[in-house]
Amino acid sequence: MKTSMLDLLSALPPGGEEWRLVSSLDPERMPRHVAVIMDGNGRWAQRRRLPRVAGHRAGVSSVREITETSARLGLDALTLYAFSVENWKRPRTEVDTLWLLLRQYLREEFATLMENNVRLHAFGRLEALPRAVRQALDSTIESTASNTGLRLNLAINYGGRAEIVDAINAWIEDFRAAGHPLPAITEEDIAARLYTGGLPDPDLLIRTSGEMRVSNFLLWQIAYAELHVTDTLWPDFRRANLLHAILDYQTRDRRFGGLGAEPASPEDRLEVVVPAR
Ligand code: FPP
Repeated sequence: MKTSMLDLLSALPPGGEEWRLVSSLDPERMPRHVAVIMDGNGRWAQRRRLPRVAGHRAGVSSVREITETSARLGLDALTLYAFSVENWKRPRTEVDTLWLLLRQYLREEFATLMENNVRLHAFGRLEALPRAVRQALDSTIESTASNTGLRLNLAINYGGRAEIVDAINAWIEDFRAAGHPLPAITEEDIAARLYTGGLPDPDLLIRTSGEMRVSNFLLWQIAYAELHVTDTLWPDFRRANLLHAILDYQTRDRRFGGLGAEPASPEDRLEVVVPAR
């Protein structure tokens, strides 16, 4: 077990639910990269007869708790879908509140990010964000750049198809700039130019609030991710929910298109028996 995980365990009330969940984790089978579609903020607010933005505000507390827990569990990367390229279709006041909340989060969470050795990163078509949001992001990214723990990726103004288009255009540009004719493109060419270039693909994709879709999120990178969909709404998704999701992940037999670790059945073995002469 990593030291940070032991620290987490010792900070929890012994014998309590979260303590039991952390103790049940198999340290050898932890996901390296977890990605989350944070959905259900609006419904959370609606159920309480509150304006939708109250749901986003409550969602920030989940962001805080899930980030801190991921850092303490020793995950390499956590990628959160904060704003999609389609989210501009929402009412202006809701979009503006999301930017406000993001800036507030960056301001208020800076100390906790540093304490937990978290390196912030943001990706998506960031050039379209309001200037003040970009400045706040750039400054936090720069100030956390030498941290060596969890990499927290915020996907903002992000679309999976847009990302693939951007990667292919970057590839074309690399050759054009060098004056070379275009060779056939490879998977490696694309993967290296995605916003996540250099990071392992997500092992686990969590979606809150029960919808069974991937909503244009990390389309390339989730090819072999394990999916965990929960009815819990994002503002209610806290440490215990993340631990349940990881435990669920640890029950999966990841085969990546192969046959996995299961021993061959007797019938399969018969096929390779060399007949006696
Ligand atoms: C989806 O819920 C959520 C979003 C579009 C925004 C997520 C933003 C936050 C959690 C807060 C700010 C983020 C950070 C990183 C500080 P929805 O509104 O689509 O919910 P609904 O489907 O119930 O309407």
